Amino acid sequence: MNPIRSNNSTILQVEGLKKYFPVRRGLFQRISGWVKAVEDVSFQIEKGKTLGMVGESGCGKTTIARLILKLLDADEGRIIFNGQDLVPLSETEMKPLRQEIQIIFQDPYGSLNPRMTVGQSIAEGLRVAGVFPGPDQKSRLEQLLKMVGMSPATMDRYPHEFSGGQRQRIGIARALSVEPALIICDEPVSALDVSIQAQIINLLKDLQDELDLSYLFISHDLNVVGYLCSDVAVMYRGHMMEYAPVDEIFDRPLHPYTQLLLSAAPDTAIDKSYARIEMEAEVPENLAETVGCSFQHKCPLNEDRCRDIGSTFMNVGENHWVRCWRTGENGTLGPDLA
Ligand SMILES: Nc1ncnc2c1ncn2[C@@H]1O[C@H](COP(=O)(O)OP(=O)(O)O)[C@@H](O)[C@H]1O
Ligand SMILES: [Mg+2]
Repeated sequence: MNPIRSNNSTILQVEGLKKYFPVRRGLFQRISGWVKAVEDVSFQIEKGKTLGMVGESGCGKTTIARLILKLLDADEGRIIFNGQDLVPLSETEMKPLRQEIQIIFQDPYGSLNPRMTVGQSIAEGLRVAGVFPGPDQKSRLEQLLKMVGMSPATMDRYPHEFSGGQRQRIGIARALSVEPALIICDEPVSALDVSIQAQIINLLKDLQDELDLSYLFISHDLNVVGYLCSDVAVMYRGHMMEYAPVDEIFDRPLHPYTQLLLSAAPDTAIDKSYARIEMEAEVPENLAETVGCSFQHKCPLNEDRCRDIGSTFMNVGENHWVRCWRTGENGTLGPDLA
């Protein structure tokens, strides 16, 4: 079972997505194991809405972003964008769709060529997408810069002349230039000061309202997703552990890992008794070989069946899903599942 209720207002529907990377060892680079980067992940994003995807470093967030953009091929699963499955598409078939899905990175400096002016960088993005505004290019660039709160005069300056927040605005302008419908925001504020983070999040929210954009907003920080997202997916080691509307995630976190994330967040009014979870517990090196629940090594509720098979994804309320069978027994669950 999966948190899917696709309808006409769904822009992106991901079903059973899987990606393993080979681990190679020795002189002959033989495959000695697999990193299970993404395992049976399903979600959908409604038009004009934001899905937050949260989880610690290495849990598979960027891999999911790259799979959606078809920068990587999925091992299994479907990625349905506006009703069309992207997985079987060739590069040629994918080309016209490329401008519909854009990405913003944590470090826009990495995606802006230091030897190009801001204007040249944005124009380059247009050219790569096959969009040629012709004589209107200058006014289009001015308009894009204004949309992200930058003066049109910045067009002739270079990326190093700007602060992190300003560079992120330029990265957003570049993504917007091809008029995408969906923007994947991969940790777009993680490198910024808290005050600047709020400005960028407000900008993304304003642009969403103005342009009816849909976002997949990736972050390792649950606090950051609260304001922007309608639903939140919590990832741990390639698995989706919990999926719920944003208020549910904060008011009724059910998976022990979600509780751990919330208890680690400084500003949430969450019951700190959740902090009994052992953050420092040893996780074995060969985790890919682990049978059962991927969170078992840190989980205070860990029991035999978690180590044998692990839970399936269970529906525990209105679009609220949890990959933990103990949630019904540990006193944190509402009466609707009793
Ligand atoms: N190209 C690759 N080859 C091998 N392993 C990879 C590759 N890309 C990512 N991984 C591994 O897949 C896992 C998920 O990585 P990633 O998606 O970057 O996580 P996140 O963005 O959540 O930090 C990590 O264990 C990472 O080391
Ligand atoms: Mg990442």
